[in-house]
Amino acid sequence: MKLVVAIVKPAMTNAVMDALSAIGVSGMTVTEVKGHGRQKGQTEIYRGAEYQVTLVPKVRFDIAVADDIADKVVETIGKAAKTGKIGDGKIFVLDLEQAVRIRTGERDAEAVAT
Ligand SMILES: Nc1ncnc2c1ncn2[C@@H]1O[C@H](COP(=O)(O)OP(=O)(O)OP(=O)(O)O)[C@@H](O)[C@H]1O
Ligand SMILES: [Mg+2]
Repeated sequence: MKLVVAIVKPAMTNAVMDALSAIGVSGMTVTEVKGHGRQKGQTEIYRGAEYQVTLVPKVRFDIAVADDIADKVVETIGKAAKTGKIGDGKIFVLDLEQAVRIRTGERDAEAVAT
């Protein structure tokens, strides 16, 4: 399994959720976060301001999936979240060791299956 972690612009949240739904991804965790990339948050908010580092609101998706659909999930998020402007975000893919669906006791691929 993989854990796909995507940091996107808050305005793209619904687009990402809709696109994931369209490919059959049903489980996810969505969190409001703050961060910065290589512009250190500056030009996104204060053009030419002298602040050193600014944290910009973003939305984080955590999605646990079977190995064979991880690429599709990454591609789908990448398309749905793209505006072409700075700050569009990042997608990280981590190896995921275990998953458990608490209600049924199902484990791993079965636990993250739709
Ligand atoms: N190396 C990183 N590690 C962890 N989180 C990151 C990293 N880079 C970016 N992020 C997260 O992604 C958000 C958006 O980053 P952003 O898209 O601005 O990256 P960037 O490298 O500056 O690319 P761009 O030049 O397109 O803006 C950040 O606010 C932060 O939450
Ligand atoms: Mg940036």
